[in-house]
Amino acid sequence: MHSFGTMYLLLVQFTLLFVCVNSTFLVYDSYTGTPITQEELKRHDKRNTTFWCTSQFFACNPYEGRRPDGSCNNLRYPTRGMSHTPPVRLLPPIFDKDYNPRLSKSGRNLPLARFLRKRLLLEGNVPDQKFTQLTAHFLLLLNGDILSFHDTVKYILWKPHCCNEKGKTDYACVPNKIPDNDPVHRFSDIRCLNMTRPESFQSVGCVNNNTNPERILSSTPTFDVSVLYGNTMEKLLTKGRKFEGGLLKYEVENGKIWPPSTKGPVNLCLLNQKPHETRCHDTPEEGVNSVAGVNLSLIWFWRLHNRIATALGRINPCWDDDRLFYTTRDIVIAIQMQIFMYELLPAFIGKENLLKAGVISSHTGHRDSYNVNFVPQISIEYMTVLRWFHTIQSGTVKMYDPQGFYLKEIPIANLTLRTGYYAVDNNIDYITQGAFRQASGKFDHAIDPELGESALGPHQKASDTLTNDLAKNRYFGLQPYVKYLELCRRRPFKKFEDLLQVMDPERVEMLQEAYENLEDVDFQAGLWLENFIEGGHVPATFYCVVVEQLLRSMASDRHWYERPNRPNAFTLPQLQEIRKISIARVLCDVGDSVTRIQRNAFLRISPNNPLCGCNEIEGIDFWAWEDNSCSNRRILPRPGLQS
Ligand SMILES: *[C@@H]1O[C@H](CO)[C@@H](O)[C@H](O)[C@H]1NC(C)=O
Ligand SMILES: *[C@@H]1O[C@H](CO)[C@@H](O)[C@H](O)[C@H]1NC(C)=O
Ligand SMILES: *[C@@H]1O[C@H](CO)[C@@H](O)[C@H](O)[C@H]1NC(C)=O
Ligand SMILES: *[C@@H]1O[C@H](CO)[C@@H](O)[C@H](O)[C@H]1NC(C)=O
Ligand SMILES: *[C@@H]1O[C@H](CO)[C@@H](O)[C@H](O)[C@H]1NC(C)=O
Repeated sequence: MHSFGTMYLLLVQFTLLFVCVNSTFLVYDSYTGTPITQEELKRHDKRNTTFWCTSQFFACNPYEGRRPDGSCNNLRYPTRGMSHTPPVRLLPPIFDKDYNPRLSKSGRNLPLARFLRKRLLLEGNVPDQKFTQLTAHFLLLLNGDILSFHDTVKYILWKPHCCNEKGKTDYACVPNKIPDNDPVHRFSDIRCLNMTRPESFQSVGCVNNNTNPERILSSTPTFDVSVLYGNTMEKLLTKGRKFEGGLLKYEVENGKIWPPSTKGPVNLCLLNQKPHETRCHDTPEEGVNSVAGVNLSLIWFWRLHNRIATALGRINPCWDDDRLFYTTRDIVIAIQMQIFMYELLPAFIGKENLLKAGVISSHTGHRDSYNVNFVPQISIEYMTVLRWFHTIQSGTVKMYDPQGFYLKEIPIANLTLRTGYYAVDNNIDYITQGAFRQASGKFDHAIDPELGESALGPHQKASDTLTNDLAKNRYFGLQPYVKYLELCRRRPFKKFEDLLQVMDPERVEMLQEAYENLEDVDFQAGLWLENFIEGGHVPATFYCVVVEQLLRSMASDRHWYERPNRPNAFTLPQLQEIRKISIARVLCDVGDSVTRIQRNAFLRISPNNPLCGCNEIEGIDFWAWEDNSCSNRRILPRPGLQS
């Protein structure tokens, strides 16, 4: 897997970092998390399964901070926390023969995914009165941290034949059939939507094919801003770090700072309109150019990293590149989580709910729920409920000038695989303004038609994100919706009427008309129609799964930013500085042409949340990271270095 050069770099890096006493290189099985022998490794090399099926890392040092590859997070199970490790399941999987989707209770095929999607979800453009488009951008950053976006690239680029004859015999192809009376496609000749089977430990050849397929992911299962720093040491070293002042590599184009561009022939930005649009990013995490919103947040966080590294370097001139880099990375990770947990989630889920569940804390000090018996894992159900956000995603990006005048719009899908668009015509300035001015799609059981009919824009004749979401539930072997209701509510749900406790009567009837039996109802379908939790804006079962995941993440991540006694833990004053951050402050610091913004930029501008000058928005005072052995305090004035 590693070239000799990279291995050498890795070694040098680790030696520099930790003056490693013990630089033993270990090889474990990625699925079982146990050591493997040299013979087994050779077997993998021969079968070309080393990349997916083995986890390779240096022996752990308990005093070391968070590693980019996630190894040694749990000191007993050192590979748990790395990429290519299995997710956890809240309920055991259920499949039909040959791991095909389960059948209905009466033994028939379940209704077609596209049929259900059209029956259960209305389409229309309803602007939400509360949330901005920025929520969607930020959520994509967070999801990109723990998921892989390879599935889409797979059927656009690698398996373009799933809807043709050839697709019928390709096990990897699981396209979605379109019913004859489909309200849209009865007028077209399209009868099939491309889709590929999700990659599993089985499909990549690690685990015997006669076992339950278990999802394999390229991302580390901890919240560590993988979108920026990648999931392997190798990528971070070759594509990320500048090895100077703690910075990430960057380029300047038209006076703006960008992540480095792709060099060479691999150019994922298929849709760049050349010669005008050329920018395409090459960063440690692959696939970031492909999905709407991730790249924009990526650009912001990329700049944020460099801004913080520069501030720390000015305060502490004796810090070397490594110390600046890793301290900055730790702060950026904390910023992402602080914004997610304390700003975005309370707006979505309700602060009271989160406080009660123990997901957030009402005091600003450290807190610690670490439990060595939990290993870092994301639940397959968490990955699933995140797809519910597709119902609130807006299909168009609106652009505004800094005075708030609407300029133009473009379907999000037209920007997929097209980073070049940002770098021309001030588009990134206008899109950034739009992010906190444009409404998100309404939280209302209806979807933007773009996502339901043309989600991949010019890349596919037709594509329906939500049909794919529902179909994937089945390929992941998720249990029916009622089983999750019962898990979350701890009481039985036996007949359709029992659903009246969790959704409106007309929605119960919609499900009853579409499915034969309550136990047939797909998890995703139930989420689409369920009522929101009291005090929040998300389905109650969504809430239940998210809370389970966040409590698990906090308990299992030894390097969780709020912990007092992790290696290189924040001091109390540092943590309290972190707690001042807001997405508005981040945009003021790194957004293009942002000089005025509302304090809570996830929420729309209103009399309670008016625009104000960036100078009025509190930020982090990096003097909390002052190192007395070399502080520049006498030279630099204390104020003025805010954020
Ligand atoms: C070996 O596996 C890697 C990673 O999955 C893949 O990119 C490469 O094409 C494979 N090589 C061969 C010869 O199959
Ligand atoms: C399982 O089947 C897939 C596709 O047929 C194949 O690529 C993979 O290598 C198989 N896995 C194992 C462990 O043999
Ligand atoms: C980048 O982010 C924007 C804004 O969310 C999105 O619309 C676009 O599709 C993304 N572009 C690429 C090339 O991924
Ligand atoms: C988006 O792409 C479609 C083709 O799928 C094209 O017809 C349309 O003009 C594009 N819209 C914009 C604003 O570029
Ligand atoms: C399926 O993918 C292929 C290859 O990208 C494409 O030619 C075809 O139009 C797609 N089908 C639909 C319905 O979009």
